[in-house]
Amino acid sequence: MNDQSIDLSTTIAGVPLTVCMMNASGARCVTQEELEALGRSRAGAIVTKSMTPQPREGNPEPRYYSFAGGSINSMGLPNLGYPTYARLIPALRRFGKPIIASIAGLCEQDFVDGARALNTVQPDLMEINLSCPNLPGKPQIGYDFQAAQRLLRKVREVVTVPMGVKLPPYFDPAHHEVMASLLAEVEVDFLSVINSVGNALVVNPEAESVVIKPKGGFGGLGGHLIKPVALANVRAFWKLLHGRVTIIGTGGIVTGTDVFEHLLCGASAVQIGTTLVEEGLQAFDRIETELREVLQKKGYRSVHDCQGKLREL
Ligand code: DHB
Repeated sequence: MNDQSIDLSTTIAGVPLTVCMMNASGARCVTQEELEALGRSRAGAIVTKSMTPQPREGNPEPRYYSFAGGSINSMGLPNLGYPTYARLIPALRRFGKPIIASIAGLCEQDFVDGARALNTVQPDLMEINLSCPNLPGKPQIGYDFQAAQRLLRKVREVVTVPMGVKLPPYFDPAHHEVMASLLAEVEVDFLSVINSVGNALVVNPEAESVVIKPKGGFGGLGGHLIKPVALANVRAFWKLLHGRVTIIGTGGIVTGTDVFEHLLCGASAVQIGTTLVEEGLQAFDRIETELREVLQKKGYRSVHDCQGKLREL
């Protein structure tokens, strides 16, 4: 059964989406063609690749590798540069869905400059990426709470659209607590959790080698095997911030059931990375159908009905 009366709409920091699914930044969203294809797809929003002031080629190849259960990448922020994305965004409005600009940088000032520049074209939402693990010599800002606070205070001043933060996974409740209070202080409007599990290593035993070239083979882990880490972070932040900050769940989504699990943990929407790269944009149609089936079978009529309803024993 595919019950079209089930309501998959949602809102992110007050911005409505007709469907609670979108691409994760990085997945099929670098070029104009890719962004337009997302516009034509069933995605509920268009998320751009994380952008820097200058266009970047990214790290040397091979820089992405998929295997049973997931993927590892060290792309190195290949992107067109923020002036180009600022130029593309107005035309992407014709697809009638929210546009989320993902902002990154190589230093704090890059983020402030990018956020200010993108703010002039008023994307529906801005996602500040504090969690790129793949720049040699540049630690993930999300793991340095002081640096994150300083950066977010500066960016907040120049952003007038709802502003979110893309976080790395945390593995201790003390870290969730520090980050949650910082996010409340800076008045962040939404969270995307999690980015890839940084600096993992996949080994090919046959070749006795690493599988990607940059950083001696270390890279960000994504895909189904990181789902429990993602769910833990969604749940932890939902409990700490509940109500004040919308959560976009990211990590490990392959099926409609995976989306349902993120919603139960408190996500209002989800982003899909590895599965989109591997399967293409038809993944949105399949996962939407599966989510409708799951919700119908469970007796839920909408995303809102099941959001945060995870039972504790
Ligand atoms: C890249 C990877 C990330 O996980 C991220 O958040 C930003 C950029 C990359 O390697 O391009």
